[in-house]
Amino acid sequence: MAKIVEEKIETKVSYNLTKRLYQYIKPYKTSLIIGIILVLAISAMELLKPMLIGSAIDDYIEKYDKIYGICDNSDLYFKGHYLTVTNIEDCDRFATIVLYQDEYYFFDDLDHNSSIMIHDSDINDFSYDDTLYYKQYSSIRLSSDDLKILRNDDIRGIRVIAVIYVIVLIANAFCNFLQTYVLQKMGQNIIYNIRQQLFDHVNSLPLRFFDTHPIGQVVTRITNDVEALNEMYSRILIRLFQSAVKIIGLVIVMLSIDLKMALYCFIMVPFIGLLTYIFKNISRRVSRVIRTRISILNTFLSENISGMRLIQIFTNEQRKYEEFKDKNTKLFKANLYRLLVNASFRPIIYFIAQIGLAIVLYNGAKDVIGGYLTIGTLYIFTNYISNLYEPIQDMAEQFSTLQNAYASSEKIFRLLDETNDIVEKTDPVILDNIEGNIEFKHVWFAYENDDYVLKDVSFTIEKGKKVAFVGATGAGKTSILSLIGRYYDIQKGQILVDGHDIKDLSIKQLRKAIGMVLQDVFVFNGTIYDNITLLDDISKEKVIESAKFTNADHFIEKLPNKYEEVMSERGSTLSMGQRQLLSFARTLAHDPKILVMDEATANIDSETELLIQDALEKMMTNKTTIMVAHRLSTIQHADKIIVMHKGRIVEMGNHQELLALNGMYKKLYDLQLYA
Ligand code: CTP
Ligand code: MG
Repeated sequence: MAKIVEEKIETKVSYNLTKRLYQYIKPYKTSLIIGIILVLAISAMELLKPMLIGSAIDDYIEKYDKIYGICDNSDLYFKGHYLTVTNIEDCDRFATIVLYQDEYYFFDDLDHNSSIMIHDSDINDFSYDDTLYYKQYSSIRLSSDDLKILRNDDIRGIRVIAVIYVIVLIANAFCNFLQTYVLQKMGQNIIYNIRQQLFDHVNSLPLRFFDTHPIGQVVTRITNDVEALNEMYSRILIRLFQSAVKIIGLVIVMLSIDLKMALYCFIMVPFIGLLTYIFKNISRRVSRVIRTRISILNTFLSENISGMRLIQIFTNEQRKYEEFKDKNTKLFKANLYRLLVNASFRPIIYFIAQIGLAIVLYNGAKDVIGGYLTIGTLYIFTNYISNLYEPIQDMAEQFSTLQNAYASSEKIFRLLDETNDIVEKTDPVILDNIEGNIEFKHVWFAYENDDYVLKDVSFTIEKGKKVAFVGATGAGKTSILSLIGRYYDIQKGQILVDGHDIKDLSIKQLRKAIGMVLQDVFVFNGTIYDNITLLDDISKEKVIESAKFTNADHFIEKLPNKYEEVMSERGSTLSMGQRQLLSFARTLAHDPKILVMDEATANIDSETELLIQDALEKMMTNKTTIMVAHRLSTIQHADKIIVMHKGRIVEMGNHQELLALNGMYKKLYDLQLYA
């Protein structure tokens, strides 16, 4: 079984990678700072919520046993007494409520000391009727309405807390919305830039890159991998930060409220931390395998779908099915494994968290009973402990996604780091006008290493002349054509255009001067018009003129929408000859000085061939023309014919001279003549 090579590449979450990822955030610093402030605000509010409830419990709900002063001038009238809770120092008689066996009793007419002493445990159980006796004091049992009157203050307090709670909830919701929006927008902006940068970079890469990189892989970079980065910028990073802030805030608040309870809460933290660490490691490995397998699958898919014709011609469907099945199964298995890891993580953590909660409840309850802890504080801690585990779990989960993002970012950066070795000089020679003189001086060229496909090739082409290359397949004809536009750089020798080394010229000017007509015409998804202009600034008149000149208008005029007819991808609705004519029109509309044609007159019916021949003749006037043709009949009138063999020039001259030589050209000619 073939091992996926990429799996072995270790993702180094290096300083450099982090720094590079940060570069993209830089322009959005303001958003980031707003986001961070919102995260802090949200965390503070999260901490506040249980505190409010704890305070409601301790300060109001549980505060039935407060002391009332009995004063003449007070505001609360209850059963013959004017009661107050605010200025009790001014009073000399007191009252209080006692909870005894689920019933509330009102003791009045106490002196200050005895009122303080009243406590459930001091009461002797000799109550009868509605009266409870404590030492010399008697009391009355309180109805629910009585309690509402007496505890009006507490109800008001609870109402205030409820209002604050609702305000906090609203503020929290709003901050959450704002935070999500601001940060997601930042993420979208960042990946927009990355996508743009990637595409621009891919556009600038030399053809050499595309010789060795499958298109599917490049597409995956720009789509999937960028999406993984989006996740990171808009969600993961901020959630990690949010979790960290939550954890730190909780720890500080918990420690300051009650040291012992806080320590109970922390008991399970090391276990959760350890599991998080293990999980993080496993998930990182699995994620990387999945990414690689997705990329392999995509590459396979795009290759096969674009090569569908070939597959069906050779009835390879079954084998391709098996190959796909194998790749699909591998991806499935890797995903299943990740599922297993992810699915087992949560329940395990949940279990540990529940044990932690039990420990806190058990010890907290003991302390409440012992009178060391209020119920409100216990509530706060039981609430905080689940709040504490949540961000830890969240962090672990985010880590798995973060690994994905790091792996993706590494691949994206590797693509961005692909250098274009075909670079223009800092101050290139800009010619007023490229005339079209071409000279090759002892050119040696290899696509890879020193596997030379052109060996010591020298020739000159004067402006306006027509030169043809002939030779067996693989002789290096197409390679020569690619070199003129500097789509590849040569290893040895020199290529001159108008006396200047093409390495000194502006690449843009050079390429603009060359019109390439290739055998395999590429048609984009767009109108005929767009396909001719290639979205360059060319007037409609010029397009039509070029189409007429190259005889392409014959078929364009017959299309339902003429020049506005939308072509499908690859122009599959056009015939080979029509595509060829379209490409002539395209080339001519761009007004090149040098015309390069690679087997432009391939297998086309004789009527179209006449059109094409005619178009060619017209196009070639006043232009340096370099053509490759297998059919020698089409090049007999060339000014110079160069015969290639295994990367070398073996014969050179015009048709008559070469025939007279009685060499390779003569042999080829005879073969075709009598074929
Ligand atoms: N080659 C290569 N990498 C490429 C293109 C070509 O290694 N990206 C090699 C081919 O394998 C061939 C040699 O370079 O051995 C010359 O190729 P080419 O110039 O395309 O040959 P042509 O003479 O154009 O052959 P044909 O008549 O078949 O078009
Ligand atoms: Mg070729």
